[in-house]
Amino acid sequence: MITCDSLVYQPFQPTGDVLACDGVSIQSIVEHAGTPTYIYSARAIRESYRAIDDAFASYPHAIHYALKANSTLAIVRLLRSLGSRVDANSGGEIRVAERASFAPQDIVFTGVGKTRDELEYAVAAGVGTINAESAGELDRIAAIARGQGRVARVAVRVNPDIDPKSHPHISTGLKTNKFGVPLQEARAIYRARRETNGLRFVGVHIHIGSQITTLEPLTHAAESLVSLALELRDDGFTLEHVDLGGGLGIAYEGRPTISPADYAGAVTPELRRAGIPVVLEPGRAVVGYSGALVARVVDTKCFPDGRKFAVLDAGMGELIRPALYGSFHRIVPVAVHAGAESAWDIVGPICESSDVFARDRMMPPLEVDDLVAILDVGAYGSVMGSNYNRHLLPAEVLVDEGTWTTIRRRQTLEDVLALET
Ligand SMILES: Cc1ncc(COP(=O)(O)O)c(C=O)c1O
Repeated sequence: MITCDSLVYQPFQPTGDVLACDGVSIQSIVEHAGTPTYIYSARAIRESYRAIDDAFASYPHAIHYALKANSTLAIVRLLRSLGSRVDANSGGEIRVAERASFAPQDIVFTGVGKTRDELEYAVAAGVGTINAESAGELDRIAAIARGQGRVARVAVRVNPDIDPKSHPHISTGLKTNKFGVPLQEARAIYRARRETNGLRFVGVHIHIGSQITTLEPLTHAAESLVSLALELRDDGFTLEHVDLGGGLGIAYEGRPTISPADYAGAVTPELRRAGIPVVLEPGRAVVGYSGALVARVVDTKCFPDGRKFAVLDAGMGELIRPALYGSFHRIVPVAVHAGAESAWDIVGPICESSDVFARDRMMPPLEVDDLVAILDVGAYGSVMGSNYNRHLLPAEVLVDEGTWTTIRRRQTLEDVLALET
């Protein structure tokens, strides 16, 4: 077990008295870009991607970056330039991948509840693999493929009933979760459809959850999947890959977690039992550390019992993870005022008491108009944004080699109202 903090490149560091991203002053960015704004480091994405790729260098593998973590086009294009392929979780994400010039065969299409339209689109596009979530979905894919005169490349997502020891809301491989088919039923589902026209079984798929910080559940999942692949080989299936999904956690609180090298070291002995190439679908571990949400303090208040609030211009509409999962994010002032640290509640402006980023967080003195950066929000941050309270989606900026560019402009009220009569 190692601490990611000591090994992983941390893009947000003070330069002189003020916080910078890869050496570019945050203050200078928001002078132009305004607040709230997501700022990403291209270097952090490159380094995290390469750490995973290097960790699996000794075993045939393909990284299919999970678009759901962050699908802003410029970031997706950056990942393509690194050699990544993608995991798409909806028809929308398939189209984003196409917009970013991914070839259809480099897309795996996963996701519970794929609609008929989405399946028709995926089959017609010829995506690399459709990870089917049920026997019924396989049959629908087969019918669609026959109707189009095509053969769909498929895998079945299995649910192994393994506890990933993560937050319950992001556990996906327990028998109480809606995902996949029970592991013990998978072999029969493959066998029963071996001769089905329209289907070609190319893999097996598993994804037991996200933000996993111990090796045991991941090794257990790999072991279950490889055992199934070996059984299917005995049954005469020629599988091209086993897909381990994503799930590798990051050290939000600086706590020990597992590194890509730990992960690869634990699962490759399992993979070698079958010798079939592995597909990996990391999301958080690729982009998590790369992003900060920079917001401005718009109010401060102190209650008689001494509780102090700093109200930001960003809230759960810009970053819902703390409200949704009680997740922890480091929060740092962009410029630090002299004075003793004290406990602050850092909150958003939304009319919900759950709109809280941190409680009793020790911070230096905070004043109205100060800038703060909420760190480690590159994954499951901006993608989960909403217009609740008619807040507008923030701008997004990418810092690369000393310069920054706006990769998504700030939404305007006109953008939002354009959909309404
Ligand atoms: C099927 C699938 N693959 C990959 C991922 C990416 O997971 P993570 O961001 O934890 O690596 C997810 C996210 O939940 C997923 O559902």
